[in-house]
Amino acid sequence: MNDDTDSGSRPGLTRRQVLVRGAGITAGALAGSTFGGAWAWAAPPAAARAVRDPFTLGVASGEPAPDGAVLWTRLAPSPLAEDGRGGMPDRSAPVQWQVAEDERFGRVVARGTELARPELGHSVHVEVGGLRPGAEYFYRFKAGPELSPVGRTSTAPAVGARVDRLAFAFTSCQTYTSGLFTAHRRMAEEDLDLVVQLGDYIYEGAANPSQFRVHEGQSEPVSLGGYRNRYAQYKGDADLQAAHAAFPWVVVLDDHEIDNNWADEVPQDPELQSREAFLARRKAALQAYYEHMPLRRASIPKDIDIQLYRRLIFGDLLDLHVLDTRQYRSDQNTAARLDTSRTILGDEQERWLRDALAGPTARWNVLAQQVFFSERDFTAGTQTSYSNDAWDGYVADRDGLRDHLATAGTSNPVILTGDVHANYVCDVKADFDDPSSRTVATELVGTSITTGGDGVEQNPGDAVQLAENPHIKFINRKRGYVRNTLTASQWTADFRIVDSVTTPDAPVRTRATFVVEDGRPGAVPA
Ligand SMILES: [Fe+2]
Repeated sequence: MNDDTDSGSRPGLTRRQVLVRGAGITAGALAGSTFGGAWAWAAPPAAARAVRDPFTLGVASGEPAPDGAVLWTRLAPSPLAEDGRGGMPDRSAPVQWQVAEDERFGRVVARGTELARPELGHSVHVEVGGLRPGAEYFYRFKAGPELSPVGRTSTAPAVGARVDRLAFAFTSCQTYTSGLFTAHRRMAEEDLDLVVQLGDYIYEGAANPSQFRVHEGQSEPVSLGGYRNRYAQYKGDADLQAAHAAFPWVVVLDDHEIDNNWADEVPQDPELQSREAFLARRKAALQAYYEHMPLRRASIPKDIDIQLYRRLIFGDLLDLHVLDTRQYRSDQNTAARLDTSRTILGDEQERWLRDALAGPTARWNVLAQQVFFSERDFTAGTQTSYSNDAWDGYVADRDGLRDHLATAGTSNPVILTGDVHANYVCDVKADFDDPSSRTVATELVGTSITTGGDGVEQNPGDAVQLAENPHIKFINRKRGYVRNTLTASQWTADFRIVDSVTTPDAPVRTRATFVVEDGRPGAVPA
């Protein structure tokens, strides 16, 4: 579900002619990382390589823990090779890795060799341990004679340790063919500890030739090779690579990593896809997702399942609960939105989450998830209409979790949402139909990186949404990301936007800033 359509059609635009300037450590390292197709614009780097660069998809880190993180890359000298093997032979290849305290690798503190195996698309996922908590590190890979770009990462503070300040951005929805990933470039230039990606990392749709940055012959993927090449197209982007190289990411998927609005084992259009075909597709898509994300071994897919709900802890300041609202949900059903037997989290995940929220926690408790949590009535007057793909389509789960936050006394719950390609700020009310009821939690909704094209301040329907839902305090439909700065006393959310994604190099600006005070749920304008 989303609120706007893919309208970023700008044929004839030329892709930015510069690679990376001013991105520090990633600048030189990224040369040659863009490739192929109708949008090829650069010759290979001047110093011709004896061996083709296998690091065309960049590097990434993720899952920061007090003692380490995951380091990622994938060998793909020919990233869009038709067979989905990235130009690699059907055998394993050793990849060396190093972690250092300095970006020149004078003080290497960990090193090793990992096998890049064809069964996992020659991806590499190194789970580094033994590092210091709350510290900055640099990492790189080597395959044959070729060195990867250098990535920067950081470990989480020790569990329970006092943390004075933590900054992270959250992001979602990046249709490659809707525009340039300038917002990722701007995010890479921020001073952050972490990036949280809430899904729609890729879009599975077939490309319309009139769209922006269309790759030749781009059809809707259904096979492992097809999904791999969709990730390869996205991850060839220098701006996205810069954002991955700059910070550790925590990722979770939404629907478009497989198919629009899928629900557990049901595709959106069961009349067009058989159950068997959809499950085969789900399996392929989840494997390709794992192969391209800095996830732990615990998330290696098993048949059609991937383990993604989890908690990451950042000292005494932040508990980050990452939720999965796709794999376990009942099928969307507008008529049954109030049916108490339906679920969006599934029983097991819900139990896990309730236990985590009721136990000892950090000061700020984030639910990092996909779809709109607060009630959102789209229709003026006494009539009502709601999204059946959002928590509004699963009212019993939504209200139950909200009530649990209140009765458990969870410290400062903040719900982060993607999916709708717009920024919102909401008070999560004890009773959404009673504006005077208590505010239980805060919901911050992030806009898209590109999906929907350049975007607008507001749609005509937004006035209705604001009038019908007094707990919604802000709507904006430009593109960007949300930057959050946490201290013990305050959460500051800056809605960072770029005014254009269809012309290169747009600057970023803060469209609005909201703050949440410790102990007072609900964000207010700064
Ligand atoms: Fe989306």
